[in-house]
Amino acid sequence: MLDKINQIRQETAGFTPGSPALLEDFRLKYLSKKGLLNELFDEFKTIGNEQKREVGKSLNELKNELNELFEAGKRSLEGAEQASGMDLSLPGDPVAMGSRHPISLVLNEICDIFTRLGFTIADGPEVEDDWHVFSALNFPPDHPARDMQDTFFIEKNPDIVLRTHTSSVQVRVMEKTPPPIRMIMPGRVFRNEAISARSHCIFHQVEGLYIAPKVSFADLKQTLLAFAREMFGEHTEIRLRPSYFPFTEPSAEMDVSCSCGGKGCNLCKYTGWLEVLGCGMVDPNVLKNCNIDPEEYSGFAFGMGVERIALLKYQIKDIRMYFENDVRFLRQFTQAL
Ligand code: DAH
Repeated sequence: MLDKINQIRQETAGFTPGSPALLEDFRLKYLSKKGLLNELFDEFKTIGNEQKREVGKSLNELKNELNELFEAGKRSLEGAEQASGMDLSLPGDPVAMGSRHPISLVLNEICDIFTRLGFTIADGPEVEDDWHVFSALNFPPDHPARDMQDTFFIEKNPDIVLRTHTSSVQVRVMEKTPPPIRMIMPGRVFRNEAISARSHCIFHQVEGLYIAPKVSFADLKQTLLAFAREMFGEHTEIRLRPSYFPFTEPSAEMDVSCSCGGKGCNLCKYTGWLEVLGCGMVDPNVLKNCNIDPEEYSGFAFGMGVERIALLKYQIKDIRMYFENDVRFLRQFTQAL
Protein backbone atom coordinates (compact mmCIF):
# COMPACT_ATOMS: atom_id res chain seq x y z
CA MET A 1 0.00 0.00 0.00
CA LEU A 2 2.81 2.35 0.80
CA ASP A 3 4.00 1.95 -2.80
CA LYS A 4 0.60 2.95 -4.13
CA ILE A 5 0.53 6.00 -1.84
CA ASN A 6 3.97 7.06 -3.02
CA GLN A 7 3.02 6.60 -6.62
CA ILE A 8 0.03 8.93 -6.25
CA ARG A 9 2.28 11.43 -4.48
CA GLN A 10 4.66 11.40 -7.44
CA GLU A 11 1.85 11.68 -9.99
CA THR A 12 0.30 14.68 -8.33
CA ALA A 13 3.41 16.54 -7.13
CA GLY A 14 3.26 20.18 -8.25
CA PHE A 15 -0.18 19.79 -9.80
CA THR A 16 -1.52 23.09 -11.21
CA PRO A 17 -4.63 22.92 -13.37
CA GLY A 18 -4.45 24.73 -16.74
CA SER A 19 -8.23 24.88 -16.93
CA PRO A 20 -11.35 24.18 -14.83
CA ALA A 21 -11.79 20.92 -16.80
CA LEU A 22 -8.38 19.65 -15.66
CA LEU A 23 -9.18 20.53 -12.05
CA GLU A 24 -12.41 18.51 -12.34
CA ASP A 25 -10.46 15.59 -13.82
CA PHE A 26 -8.17 15.73 -10.79
CA ARG A 27 -11.11 15.72 -8.40
CA LEU A 28 -12.79 12.78 -10.16
CA LYS A 29 -9.61 10.74 -10.32
CA TYR A 30 -8.45 11.18 -6.72
CA LEU A 31 -11.05 12.80 -4.46
CA SER A 32 -14.48 11.65 -5.62
CA LYS A 33 -16.42 8.79 -4.04
CA LYS A 34 -15.08 6.34 -6.57
CA GLY A 35 -11.65 8.01 -6.68
CA LEU A 36 -8.29 6.49 -5.85
CA LEU A 37 -8.19 7.91 -2.34
CA ASN A 38 -11.43 6.20 -1.31
CA GLU A 39 -10.19 3.02 -2.97
CA LEU A 40 -7.13 3.16 -0.71
CA PHE A 41 -9.23 3.76 2.41
CA ASP A 42 -11.30 0.68 1.49
CA GLU A 43 -8.11 -1.35 1.07
CA PHE A 44 -6.83 0.05 4.39
CA LYS A 45 -9.64 -1.80 6.20
CA THR A 46 -8.28 -5.13 4.92
CA ILE A 47 -4.63 -4.86 6.00
CA GLY A 48 -3.12 -6.39 9.08
CA ASN A 49 -3.01 -4.52 12.40
CA GLU A 50 0.78 -4.35 12.48
CA GLN A 51 0.77 -2.22 9.28
CA LYS A 52 -2.17 -0.03 10.20
CA ARG A 53 -0.22 2.59 12.13
CA GLU A 54 2.32 3.40 9.46
CA VAL A 55 -0.02 3.08 6.45
CA GLY A 56 -2.78 5.03 8.23
CA LYS A 57 -0.44 7.93 8.88
CA SER A 58 0.73 8.04 5.25
CA LEU A 59 -2.80 7.73 3.96
CA ASN A 60 -4.01 10.64 6.07
CA GLU A 61 -1.07 12.72 4.90
CA LEU A 62 -1.91 11.89 1.28
CA LYS A 63 -5.53 12.86 1.84
CA ASN A 64 -4.47 16.25 3.23
CA GLU A 65 -2.00 16.81 0.41
CA LEU A 66 -4.53 16.00 -2.32
CA ASN A 67 -7.16 18.28 -0.75
CA GLU A 68 -4.58 21.03 -0.46
CA LEU A 69 -3.55 20.60 -4.12
CA PHE A 70 -7.20 20.78 -5.16
CA GLU A 71 -7.87 23.97 -3.16
CA ALA A 72 -4.68 25.63 -4.39
CA GLY A 73 -5.59 24.72 -7.96
CA LYS A 74 -9.02 26.24 -7.52
CA ARG A 75 -7.57 29.46 -6.14
CA SER A 76 -5.08 29.79 -8.99
CA LEU A 77 -7.82 29.41 -11.58
CA GLU A 78 -9.92 32.11 -9.91
CA GLY A 79 -6.90 34.41 -9.78
CA ALA A 80 -6.17 33.87 -13.47
CA GLU A 81 -9.79 34.57 -14.31
CA GLN A 82 -9.71 37.88 -12.52
CA ALA A 83 -6.33 38.89 -13.92
CA SER A 84 -7.52 38.27 -17.46
CA GLY A 85 -10.72 40.19 -16.76
CA MET A 86 -12.81 37.19 -17.69
CA ASP A 87 -15.36 37.52 -14.92
CA LEU A 88 -18.12 39.24 -16.83
CA SER A 89 -20.14 39.76 -13.68
CA LEU A 90 -17.58 42.22 -12.26
CA PRO A 91 -18.30 45.97 -12.73
CA GLY A 92 -16.36 47.46 -15.68
CA ASP A 93 -13.45 49.90 -15.39
CA PRO A 94 -14.68 53.47 -15.85
CA VAL A 95 -13.59 55.06 -19.16
CA ALA A 96 -12.51 58.69 -18.84
CA MET A 97 -14.62 60.65 -21.33
CA GLY A 98 -13.15 63.72 -22.96
CA SER A 99 -15.25 66.65 -24.13
CA ARG A 100 -15.30 68.78 -27.23
CA HIS A 101 -13.11 71.85 -27.30
CA PRO A 102 -15.15 75.09 -27.05
CA ILE A 103 -13.87 76.15 -30.48
CA SER A 104 -15.14 72.89 -32.00
CA LEU A 105 -18.48 73.32 -30.21
CA VAL A 106 -18.97 76.81 -31.61
CA LEU A 107 -17.64 75.87 -35.05
CA ASN A 108 -20.06 72.92 -35.21
CA GLU A 109 -22.93 75.14 -34.11
CA ILE A 110 -22.13 77.76 -36.79
CA CYS A 111 -21.96 75.00 -39.43
CA ASP A 112 -25.27 73.54 -38.17
CA ILE A 113 -27.08 76.86 -38.39
CA PHE A 114 -25.92 77.60 -41.93
CA THR A 115 -26.55 74.03 -43.06
CA ARG A 116 -30.15 74.48 -41.98
CA LEU A 117 -30.25 77.69 -44.07
CA GLY A 118 -29.22 75.65 -47.13
CA PHE A 119 -25.45 76.29 -47.14
CA THR A 120 -22.99 73.48 -47.84
CA ILE A 121 -19.46 73.31 -46.44
CA ALA A 122 -16.24 73.76 -48.43
CA ASP A 123 -12.60 73.37 -47.47
CA GLY A 124 -9.35 74.84 -48.75
CA PRO A 125 -5.58 74.74 -48.15
CA GLU A 126 -3.90 76.54 -45.24
CA VAL A 127 -0.73 77.14 -47.27
CA GLU A 128 -1.80 79.36 -50.14
CA ASP A 129 -0.48 81.44 -52.99
CA ASP A 130 -0.70 85.21 -53.22
CA TRP A 131 -3.44 85.03 -55.87
CA HIS A 132 -6.01 83.27 -53.66
CA VAL A 133 -5.25 85.14 -50.43
CA PHE A 134 -4.77 88.65 -51.83
CA SER A 135 -4.67 89.38 -55.56
CA ALA A 136 -7.93 87.74 -56.67
CA LEU A 137 -9.62 89.42 -53.69
CA ASN A 138 -8.73 92.87 -55.00
CA PHE A 139 -6.03 93.70 -52.45
CA PRO A 140 -3.87 96.48 -53.97
CA PRO A 141 -0.18 95.51 -54.33
CA ASP A 142 0.86 97.74 -51.41
CA HIS A 143 -1.91 96.71 -49.01
CA PRO A 144 -0.61 96.42 -45.43
CA ALA A 145 -2.07 92.90 -45.00
CA ARG A 146 0.62 91.65 -47.40
CA ASP A 147 3.26 93.22 -45.20
CA MET A 148 5.77 91.10 -43.27
CA GLN A 149 4.09 92.41 -40.09
CA ASP A 150 0.89 90.51 -40.77
CA THR A 151 1.58 87.54 -42.98
CA PHE A 152 3.68 84.43 -42.44
CA PHE A 153 5.60 83.90 -45.66
CA ILE A 154 6.64 80.39 -46.67
CA GLU A 155 8.31 81.50 -49.91
CA LYS A 156 8.96 84.83 -51.60
CA ASN A 157 8.60 85.48 -55.37
CA PRO A 158 6.25 83.95 -56.16
CA ASP A 159 4.75 84.40 -52.73
CA ILE A 160 3.48 81.36 -50.82
CA VAL A 161 1.90 82.27 -47.48
CA LEU A 162 -0.08 80.86 -44.59
CA ARG A 163 -3.59 82.12 -45.32
CA THR A 164 -4.47 85.17 -43.24
CA HIS A 165 -8.20 84.63 -43.74
CA THR A 166 -10.61 82.01 -45.08
CA SER A 167 -11.66 84.40 -47.87
CA SER A 168 -9.08 82.55 -50.00
CA VAL A 169 -11.48 79.60 -50.12
CA GLN A 170 -14.15 81.87 -51.69
CA VAL A 171 -11.85 82.30 -54.65
CA ARG A 172 -11.14 78.57 -54.93
CA VAL A 173 -14.85 77.75 -54.76
CA MET A 174 -15.83 80.41 -57.34
CA GLU A 175 -13.05 79.30 -59.72
CA LYS A 176 -14.37 75.78 -59.91
CA THR A 177 -18.10 75.93 -59.09
CA PRO A 178 -20.60 77.41 -61.53
CA PRO A 179 -23.22 79.52 -59.64
CA PRO A 180 -25.53 79.34 -57.83
CA ILE A 181 -23.13 78.97 -54.88
CA ARG A 182 -24.25 78.84 -51.26
CA MET A 183 -21.37 77.72 -49.11
CA ILE A 184 -19.59 78.27 -45.83
CA MET A 185 -15.87 77.69 -45.42
CA PRO A 186 -14.60 77.03 -41.90
CA GLY A 187 -10.89 76.81 -41.19
CA ARG A 188 -7.70 77.81 -39.44
CA VAL A 189 -5.94 81.06 -40.29
CA PHE A 190 -2.57 82.56 -39.37
CA ARG A 191 -1.32 86.09 -38.68
CA ASN A 192 2.02 87.33 -37.50
CA GLU A 193 0.60 89.05 -34.43
CA ALA A 194 1.86 89.37 -30.88
CA ILE A 195 -0.01 86.92 -28.65
CA SER A 196 -2.18 88.70 -26.07
CA ALA A 197 -5.52 88.30 -24.29
CA ARG A 198 -7.25 89.61 -27.43
CA SER A 199 -5.23 88.21 -30.34
CA HIS A 200 -3.37 85.07 -31.32
CA CYS A 201 -1.21 84.08 -34.29
CA ILE A 202 -3.46 81.07 -35.01
CA PHE A 203 -7.23 81.30 -34.97
CA HIS A 204 -10.35 80.10 -36.79
CA GLN A 205 -12.76 81.75 -39.18
CA VAL A 206 -15.93 80.82 -40.97
CA GLU A 207 -16.38 82.39 -44.37
CA GLY A 208 -19.76 82.57 -46.09
CA LEU A 209 -20.57 83.04 -49.77
CA TYR A 210 -23.83 83.27 -51.68
CA ILE A 211 -23.71 83.86 -55.44
CA ALA A 212 -26.85 83.73 -57.62
CA PRO A 213 -28.81 86.02 -59.95
CA LYS A 214 -30.17 89.12 -58.17
CA VAL A 215 -28.77 88.50 -54.69
CA SER A 216 -29.26 91.74 -52.75
CA PHE A 217 -28.04 93.41 -49.58
CA ALA A 218 -31.46 92.60 -48.05
CA ASP A 219 -30.67 88.87 -48.50
CA LEU A 220 -27.38 89.40 -46.69
CA LYS A 221 -29.07 91.20 -43.82
CA GLN A 222 -31.83 88.62 -43.39
CA THR A 223 -29.39 85.69 -43.52
CA LEU A 224 -27.17 87.26 -40.88
CA LEU A 225 -30.14 88.16 -38.66
CA ALA A 226 -31.33 84.54 -38.80
CA PHE A 227 -27.83 83.38 -37.89
CA ALA A 228 -27.48 85.86 -35.00
CA ARG A 229 -30.82 84.81 -33.48
CA GLU A 230 -29.96 81.12 -33.69
CA MET A 231 -26.51 81.72 -32.21
CA PHE A 232 -27.18 84.31 -29.51
CA GLY A 233 -30.92 83.96 -28.78
CA GLU A 234 -34.22 84.82 -30.43
CA HIS A 235 -34.36 88.40 -29.13
CA THR A 236 -31.00 89.34 -30.61
CA GLU A 237 -30.91 92.42 -32.85
CA ILE A 238 -28.21 93.19 -35.41
CA ARG A 239 -26.69 96.44 -36.60
CA LEU A 240 -24.66 96.94 -39.78
CA ARG A 241 -22.04 99.67 -39.78
CA PRO A 242 -20.36 100.86 -43.01
CA SER A 243 -16.83 99.52 -43.33
CA TYR A 244 -14.20 98.70 -45.91
CA PHE A 245 -12.85 95.43 -47.32
CA PRO A 246 -11.10 95.29 -50.71
CA PHE A 247 -13.24 92.36 -51.88
CA THR A 248 -16.73 93.68 -51.03
CA GLU A 249 -18.63 96.80 -52.11
CA PRO A 250 -20.44 98.01 -50.12
CA SER A 251 -18.86 96.53 -46.98
CA ALA A 252 -20.17 96.42 -43.45
CA GLU A 253 -19.31 95.35 -39.96
CA MET A 254 -22.05 93.52 -38.08
CA ASP A 255 -22.75 93.98 -34.37
CA VAL A 256 -25.20 91.95 -32.28
CA SER A 257 -27.13 93.38 -29.34
CA CYS A 258 -25.57 92.59 -25.98
CA SER A 259 -27.65 90.59 -23.49
CA CYS A 260 -27.17 93.37 -20.90
CA GLY A 261 -29.36 95.57 -23.09
CA GLY A 262 -26.78 98.34 -22.98
CA LYS A 263 -27.32 98.86 -19.25
CA GLY A 264 -23.70 98.13 -18.74
CA CYS A 265 -21.35 95.19 -18.82
CA ASN A 266 -17.68 94.58 -19.40
CA LEU A 267 -18.28 92.66 -22.60
CA CYS A 268 -19.94 95.49 -24.57
CA LYS A 269 -18.28 98.29 -22.62
CA TYR A 270 -21.66 99.97 -21.99
CA THR A 271 -22.43 100.35 -25.70
CA GLY A 272 -25.05 97.57 -25.88
CA TRP A 273 -23.44 96.19 -29.08
CA LEU A 274 -20.83 93.51 -29.79
CA GLU A 275 -18.92 93.36 -33.06
CA VAL A 276 -19.05 89.84 -34.53
CA LEU A 277 -18.23 89.81 -38.26
CA GLY A 278 -17.37 91.55 -41.51
CA CYS A 279 -19.56 91.30 -44.61
CA GLY A 280 -20.60 92.90 -47.88
CA MET A 281 -21.63 92.47 -51.49
CA VAL A 282 -18.93 90.64 -53.48
CA ASP A 283 -17.02 93.22 -55.56
CA PRO A 284 -17.63 92.76 -59.33
CA ASN A 285 -13.83 92.69 -59.81
CA VAL A 286 -13.61 89.60 -57.60
CA LEU A 287 -16.36 87.87 -59.60
CA LYS A 288 -14.47 88.70 -62.82
CA ASN A 289 -11.22 87.36 -61.36
CA CYS A 290 -13.02 84.05 -60.78
CA ASN A 291 -14.62 83.97 -64.25
CA ILE A 292 -18.14 84.77 -63.04
CA ASP A 293 -20.08 87.36 -65.06
CA PRO A 294 -21.01 90.28 -62.74
CA GLU A 295 -23.79 91.30 -65.16
CA GLU A 296 -25.50 87.97 -64.61
CA TYR A 297 -24.67 87.24 -60.99
CA SER A 298 -24.31 89.09 -57.73
CA GLY A 299 -23.62 87.84 -54.26
CA PHE A 300 -22.77 88.47 -50.66
CA ALA A 301 -19.95 87.29 -48.45
CA PHE A 302 -19.16 87.38 -44.77
CA GLY A 303 -16.36 86.27 -42.46
CA MET A 304 -16.36 85.72 -38.73
CA GLY A 305 -13.80 84.79 -36.09
CA VAL A 306 -14.77 81.63 -34.23
CA GLU A 307 -12.67 82.46 -31.13
CA ARG A 308 -14.47 85.78 -30.87
CA ILE A 309 -17.95 84.24 -31.16
CA ALA A 310 -17.03 81.63 -28.50
CA LEU A 311 -15.61 84.42 -26.33
CA LEU A 312 -18.94 86.27 -26.47
CA LYS A 313 -21.07 83.16 -26.07
CA TYR A 314 -19.20 81.75 -23.07
CA GLN A 315 -17.85 85.05 -21.70
CA ILE A 316 -14.25 83.90 -21.90
CA LYS A 317 -11.83 86.64 -20.84
CA ASP A 318 -8.59 85.59 -22.52
CA ILE A 319 -8.16 84.11 -26.00
CA ARG A 320 -4.97 82.29 -24.90
CA MET A 321 -7.04 79.92 -22.77
CA TYR A 322 -8.22 78.14 -25.91
CA PHE A 323 -4.72 76.91 -26.59
CA GLU A 324 -3.36 76.19 -23.11
CA ASN A 325 -5.02 72.76 -22.79
CA ASP A 326 -5.78 73.32 -19.13
CA VAL A 327 -8.35 70.62 -18.29
CA ARG A 328 -9.91 72.83 -15.60
CA PHE A 329 -10.92 75.18 -18.42
CA LEU A 330 -11.85 72.48 -20.94
CA ARG A 331 -13.97 70.46 -18.47
CA GLN A 332 -16.40 73.35 -18.16
CA PHE A 333 -17.70 72.57 -21.64
CA THR A 334 -18.61 68.92 -21.00
CA GLN A 335 -22.29 69.77 -20.70
CA ALA A 336 -22.42 72.13 -23.64
CA LEU A 337 -24.28 70.92 -26.75
N1 DAH B 1 -11.53 88.27 -44.46
C1 DAH B 1 -11.93 89.28 -43.51
C2 DAH B 1 -10.95 89.27 -42.34
O1 DAH B 1 -10.24 88.34 -42.16
C3 DAH B 1 -13.31 89.00 -42.98
C4 DAH B 1 -14.34 89.23 -44.02
C5 DAH B 1 -14.93 90.46 -44.16
C6 DAH B 1 -14.73 88.21 -44.86
C7 DAH B 1 -15.90 90.71 -45.12
C8 DAH B 1 -15.71 88.43 -45.83
C9 DAH B 1 -16.28 89.69 -45.94
O2 DAH B 1 -16.13 87.49 -46.67
O3 DAH B 1 -17.24 89.89 -46.88
O4 DAH B 1 -10.92 90.23 -41.60
